Amino acid sequence: MSPLHKGIPSTLPKGAPPVRHFLQFADFTTEEHVYVLERAALIKKKFKNFERHHSLVDRTLAMIFEKASTRTRVSFEAGMYQLGGSVVHLTTGDSQLGRAEPIEDSAKVISRMTDIVMIRTYEQTKIERFAAHSRVPVINGLTNEFHPCQILADIFTYIEHRGPIQGKTVAWVGDGNNMANTWLQAADLLGFTVHVSTPSGYEIDQSVAGLRSSDSYKVFADPLQACESADLVTTDVWTSMGYEAENEARLKAFASWRVNAAMMTAAAPDALFMHCLPAHRGEEVDADVIDGPQSVVWDEAENRMHVQKALLEYLLLGRQG
Ligand code: CP
Ligand code: NVA
Repeated sequence: MSPLHKGIPSTLPKGAPPVRHFLQFADFTTEEHVYVLERAALIKKKFKNFERHHSLVDRTLAMIFEKASTRTRVSFEAGMYQLGGSVVHLTTGDSQLGRAEPIEDSAKVISRMTDIVMIRTYEQTKIERFAAHSRVPVINGLTNEFHPCQILADIFTYIEHRGPIQGKTVAWVGDGNNMANTWLQAADLLGFTVHVSTPSGYEIDQSVAGLRSSDSYKVFADPLQACESADLVTTDVWTSMGYEAENEARLKAFASWRVNAAMMTAAAPDALFMHCLPAHRGEEVDADVIDGPQSVVWDEAENRMHVQKALLEYLLLGRQG
């Protein structure tokens, strides 16, 4: 070996702790979620007070987008800079990912040069394959099956406005999609109940949602009934990214699953309304609900940034303090 190559490491140090990923909500225990939510409250408070919190100086986050984004992009990018780190932004169109470089090879390369990776893509299996070949933590920034960062933010927002979510009821009105699946995983872990109402043909698939049981959710044919006495009413677009070809059929099938004032009246008097956004007023929600006094959608969007800062820090540094 020439002196030039001597001592240059090509593998991780022996005894390094195993890398943790956040590919779905159930990847963390209840205790870990409680820690991340509490840490997010501290990080948010410091940020609002203009107190520097540079826990990730010199660390780099790679953000890979195979689908469009506004909130996920801005919240991860701003959040990482606020922690003293930096970001690299990749899309399918401007990287070799779009030219069929194997996901495993991409994972090996990207995780040699960055410290943590966020991916928004299609199938959950794709992010799992990336994670299996990554040296660094991988975060799910939305897949067809799950959107765990969003639900972390939604639960943080609920707690901020109303206190503990344990024992409460969340009404899910609409598609049995990535958001719905993740709400169900969260209910299982954090001890609340989800009332699910979807049109026929768009139901929850318990095996896709990765649930241990059906104990934490109840299915309702009538969306109004699902909202009765609920502490939180929430919905999402009728056509998620990747399902655009089904748009016409979905517009017809979902017509009675628009969250309206009657549903909010049926809910508990202090019920909140949430929507992960982007929203389509007049489709999945009426304007007087999303722009009304029970809606907390803007806090929900902002809180993406605060909870993700806590998540990035936890995955890279573990528990602090
Ligand atoms: N809610 C959410 O993930 O928004 P974006 O698609 O804009 O990232
Ligand atoms: N279910 C939606 C969420 C968008 C943030 C989608 O996957 O497109």
